[in-house]
Amino acid sequence: MTLTNDYAETADQYGRAEFTGTMYLAFRDVPDLIARHVSGSAALDYGCGAGRSSRLLKRQGLTVTGVDISDAMLETAGKLDPDGTYVKIEAGVLPFADASFDMAFSSLVFFEIPTIAEMTATAAEIARVLRPGGVFILLIGAEELYAHEWATVKVDYPENRDCRSGDAVRVFLSEVGLELTDYYWTDADYRQVFAGAGLSVVQLHQPLGTAGDGQPWINEDKVPPFSIYVARK
Ligand SMILES: C[S@@+](CC[C@H](N)C(=O)[O-])C[C@H]1O[C@@H](n2cnc3c(N)ncnc32)[C@H](O)[C@@H]1O
Repeated sequence: MTLTNDYAETADQYGRAEFTGTMYLAFRDVPDLIARHVSGSAALDYGCGAGRSSRLLKRQGLTVTGVDISDAMLETAGKLDPDGTYVKIEAGVLPFADASFDMAFSSLVFFEIPTIAEMTATAAEIARVLRPGGVFILLIGAEELYAHEWATVKVDYPENRDCRSGDAVRVFLSEVGLELTDYYWTDADYRQVFAGAGLSVVQLHQPLGTAGDGQPWINEDKVPPFSIYVARK
């Protein structure tokens, strides 16, 4: 498995990222989407990082297992949530039986996966551990993410211009001072991944900022920076 961003040195820094600025919008509607589409409480947080997303799911009353490929991220997640369950993924295999979870969530992870084939294998492995009728909610950058200025996600890098499927792109998370490399994937690419993994997309939600958010929006109230796919097994 390819490591796009090595979080060994930066996991603590990432652990300071919460739900403010542009990231507020990424996660704002997730609880509503879960309430609308998910029944049952066993949740997998795929690519849990420092556990921000797992803690959000836990606050919604779900029983959460966070998984990641980064030891450093898992260690930080455990420090921030000592009662939480955080598990390492080895060789792309989830250490769980088929149909173990009612839902899976994955935020800001799939754009770290460098090929459509690897994304499809990952989604298929997630689908394997979902029960029939279980739901996979994938939160990811929208195609527009790399083309506009945002409150706290900076994307003004030369390589982000005219990017095409599979190109490396860069972002700077200004609140935590972290620069990350991602891959640019289109809506068509993600839909190909879901289809290849045997999952049906039932909703694509692209949150837009509002004045009521109380965040310093630049373009977030005009152009959606994130896509949230709800797919069912
Ligand atoms: C940008 S962080 C997002 C963390 C968390 N989901 C959040 O929203 O705060 C991306 C995480 O995905 C993990 N990751 C990257 N590629 C992965 C893969 N193929 N399988 C599992 N985790 C992966 C990284 O180690 C990192 O912790």
